Amino acid sequence: MSNLFLAQGVNSFKNSRVPCVIANWKMNGTKQTLSNLFNSIVSSLTANNSSTSSADIVICPPFVYLDSLSVFLKERANSKIKLGAQNMYCANEGAFTGEISPLMLKDLGCTYVLLGHSERRLHFKESDSLIAKKWHSAYNASLIPVLCVGETREQRDQGLTMKVIEDQLKAVFEAPSSIDTLKTGLIAYEPVWAIGTGLTATPDEAESIHAFIRDWVKQKAPSLANHTRILYGGSVKAANAKSLMSQLNIDGLLVGGASLNAQEFVEICSVMPASAA
Ligand code: PGA
Repeated sequence: MSNLFLAQGVNSFKNSRVPCVIANWKMNGTKQTLSNLFNSIVSSLTANNSSTSSADIVICPPFVYLDSLSVFLKERANSKIKLGAQNMYCANEGAFTGEISPLMLKDLGCTYVLLGHSERRLHFKESDSLIAKKWHSAYNASLIPVLCVGETREQRDQGLTMKVIEDQLKAVFEAPSSIDTLKTGLIAYEPVWAIGTGLTATPDEAESIHAFIRDWVKQKAPSLANHTRILYGGSVKAANAKSLMSQLNIDGLLVGGASLNAQEFVEICSVMPASAA
């Protein structure tokens, strides 16, 4: 088999994975500023840009604004934008003061949920085992979970990147058959040292970790590996989105700070390749 044929074969797998861009607005904005931002993003994406028409575009506002944005989206029946949450608890209901359940997210029209974001792991001490429980209850509630994994600067400096990521993956997918949840779930590689710092992994660096993650999935579930979407996050902006997306194993982008600017975010969405899926 020629190298060219091999490359085309691998590329066609990339083309079959629907690209995905997720805006993570974190704990920013007000009802007014976020509805303006949402309106601008939805209007620009709906008005133009055929290249984004095949991509999944997901907005994750703070919990308290999900409902009003969901109503707004329903009024724009032709919008392809989906809503996501930045977190959730693992139980469907009960005495868990202050928490939000997967069923509540579904009720509000959410499709996606971010889990295990490094800010949750760091500031709220979320453990791998809690994140694994959340993952499975999101999946069981028919939400699309997005598992965030990534190493800190210290771990990177100590050469522990692969081990840290492998441990984070194992915690969620080690149990028999749990890997099947990647039929719908996504993985996001977000090096902690790149989040909100302006530092980005180079496209080559990011690609090598993404290839490692895909290979890890392949060991566990050969038939799923080529279909699993793996996103990159960490100081993504319009200026670096295209070079990141040109990598074979990068299927989309998880965008924090730059998603708070409508024009910047729409530009990022515009570099999504058309998918054949
Ligand atoms: P950033 O955040 O784009 O501001 O680095 C990304 C994230 O935290 O998901």
